[in-house]
Amino acid sequence: MPRYESRDGRGCLLVGDSRRLDPIPTGSVGVIVTSPPYWMRGRGRRSAEGWARRLAQEFGAEWRRVLAPDGDLWLVIGDRHDGAEWLGLDGIVSEWMRRTGWRLQSKGCWAQVRSRERWDNRLNHVLRFRNAGRAVRPDSTTLCWMLPLPASHRESLWDATPDPVIRTALEKSKKRGPVLDPFIGAGTVALVARAAGRAWIGVERDPRMARLAARRLGLRRPPRPVRTVASGSSGRAPRRTRSG
Ligand SMILES: C[S@@+](CC[C@H](N)C(=O)[O-])C[C@H]1O[C@@H](n2cnc3c(N)ncnc32)[C@H](O)[C@@H]1O
Repeated sequence: MPRYESRDGRGCLLVGDSRRLDPIPTGSVGVIVTSPPYWMRGRGRRSAEGWARRLAQEFGAEWRRVLAPDGDLWLVIGDRHDGAEWLGLDGIVSEWMRRTGWRLQSKGCWAQVRSRERWDNRLNHVLRFRNAGRAVRPDSTTLCWMLPLPASHRESLWDATPDPVIRTALEKSKKRGPVLDPFIGAGTVALVARAAGRAWIGVERDPRMARLAARRLGLRRPPRPVRTVASGSSGRAPRRTRSG
């Protein structure tokens, strides 16, 4: 996967589809904090179920692989009213996550105040999952915020999660290991993680968004590795570099 890196080596942005996280070693991530693209297309429960199933099955398997056994996964997702009823996407997502080996440990919400969004587009669920079989002591903190929608970067195609929500997720989770956002968008989670002194990894499929995140985070492309092996088809011996 193409990548950008921070100069201090504590941040890395992978450009590609986060259904495959091959460059990230198994069990190496301390905490995942992310906001996947919300369920926007389609109507009705069946469509919402399909979206939740794809999230849990197509992305969740790699989240499970890379997350440390005692790590937390935080999902920030929207909800919607389909004209007849609220879909209750927190319940739908939690059920699909449960079927794929996760357990919901805490839930809360952040609601937009002074919002120009449609009335049913202002509520965001904040869901904390762990691997099944790793119980944690129930957390008595109320995870609830009423906040204005943060001013997204003017070039971003997406809204951002407010910093206090991300900061709380990091404070309540395992402190060792990098913070991963597999849908990093304009890089908000990485900015908050960096400010908290954490190493981080981001993944973004859209190269324009990746460039924007790289600019906001001051990242650079790593130098290309020196090619030392000639193509096998010529039958030539590997070319030696001066230092080799
Ligand atoms: C809701 S936005 C995240 C916004 C982010 N929290 C921010 O502060 O900008 C979701 C992001 O996930 C990216 N994305 C969607 N599908 C993806 C995939 N399969 N792999 C990696 N990134 C993906 C989108 O391009 C988008 O930038």
